[in-house]
Amino acid sequence: MGEPHVELEQLYGPEFAADPQGVYARLRRYGPIAPVEISPGITAMLVTDYRAALDLLHDTVTWSKDPRKWQESVPEDSPILPMIGWRPNVMFNDGDVHARYRQAITDGFERIPPHELRTMVVGIADSLIAGFGADGQADLMGQFARLLPLKLFNRLFGLPDSYSDRLISSIAGMMEGDPAEASAANEEFQGYISELISAKKHVRGRDLTSWFLDHPVGLNDEEVTHQMVLTMAAGHEPTCNLIGNALARMLTDDRYYSTLSGGALTPRDAIQDVLLNEPPICNYSAHFPRRDVFFHGTWIRTGQLVMVSYTAAGAAHGRTGEGAGAGGSGASGSGGGAHLAWSAGPHSCPVPRAALLIATTAIERLCAWLSDIELTVPHDRLTYRPGPFHRALTELPARFTPISPGQAGETPWDSRDTGHSGNGRAEAEGESTPAP
Ligand code: HEM
Repeated sequence: MGEPHVELEQLYGPEFAADPQGVYARLRRYGPIAPVEISPGITAMLVTDYRAALDLLHDTVTWSKDPRKWQESVPEDSPILPMIGWRPNVMFNDGDVHARYRQAITDGFERIPPHELRTMVVGIADSLIAGFGADGQADLMGQFARLLPLKLFNRLFGLPDSYSDRLISSIAGMMEGDPAEASAANEEFQGYISELISAKKHVRGRDLTSWFLDHPVGLNDEEVTHQMVLTMAAGHEPTCNLIGNALARMLTDDRYYSTLSGGALTPRDAIQDVLLNEPPICNYSAHFPRRDVFFHGTWIRTGQLVMVSYTAAGAAHGRTGEGAGAGGSGASGSGGGAHLAWSAGPHSCPVPRAALLIATTAIERLCAWLSDIELTVPHDRLTYRPGPFHRALTELPARFTPISPGQAGETPWDSRDTGHSGNGRAEAEGESTPAP
């Protein structure tokens, strides 16, 4: 008699998007690690326990981030490969290769002073708010949260705002289900990146592209391209979702109600709540054991795909006693305890402070200009995009008292900046960033 057929929990369908906590509750019945299906026919083991997650994320002797062996058995057209397939970038390499790529990225972000980053976010947020403020209603995902990080990256990598539409349309196209559109959009994105690199090779500016090109670790052009693509991809999706999920909480939880007119809980509290309870990246950290390993009660075969559920393993899920604190784990937390929203260990998010500053500033600007925003649908009618990796609202429809450019007092139309290139100091120092 064969093994009884076990239905695996699917993390890619509408059921998971509608009720992830229900799925995690069922997965926990397996113990600290459970089998799941992340795409049709592609299975993985998912860690749902905090201590097991930390053990995996810190143990680089047992676990590798390199998927190349695993990938041999995955069809080339699998929709999972853009998220887990190998590339010469920081996410899919180990040891010295990983450290070299990561150094270029962290040093690049270190060179952006926080006050300049904030000024840029304020300018971009205000220009987006000016785009819909007079309408009295907006989809705060499609018209705000999803646009702001890309407009910011367009600038941080050194292009004037006139180029950001190209970046936005190519990224949006890549996320479409239609494979023909996704492939055309991917080409458009590659074109954007390669033109940007050639322009910067010609004349450097004070921007991440130039700093990657000149970094002492000596990245070649292909490596620069891959670190740029990865930084934009890894930064865009979670930052949109951090802003969106935090706004959704603020607009539906009475404790935040008065925040909008100066009250109890702040945008920072909403963001912390999201990091603890609804991480923007819910499951990721693809790892592969270098040998067969008995891990928290389960045998894992060499090269098998294992991922971490930051949401299921996070602080808000019944962890008590030893191991429940942030101490020395690399996981972050404050007030409400540790969480894994930035992951942990050598591959944890390299720029959490920048990401927090971006999300907090964006939400503060929105609340400052539109003091009476409210959702136009009840919270339980909000929908989320399917997919195993993100917790992403499809839209966030809201209404507010319209504002207009002609009204008394300051408005976002006065404050928005003109969208010059570079990071704010370039023009003052007489540098110019040539457009490709
Ligand atoms: C400015 C925005 C951001 C940028 C540029 C960025 C960049 C990156 C990069 C380059 C990595 C790969 C690090 C490595 O493999 O060594 C990474 C990992 C990660 N980031 Fe971020 N990130 C941003 C925002 C966020 C946000 C808002 C979150 C969620 C709150 C987040 C969560 C993560 C997680 C969970 C990982 C680990 C992924 C994995 O190992 O599979 N990031 N990020």
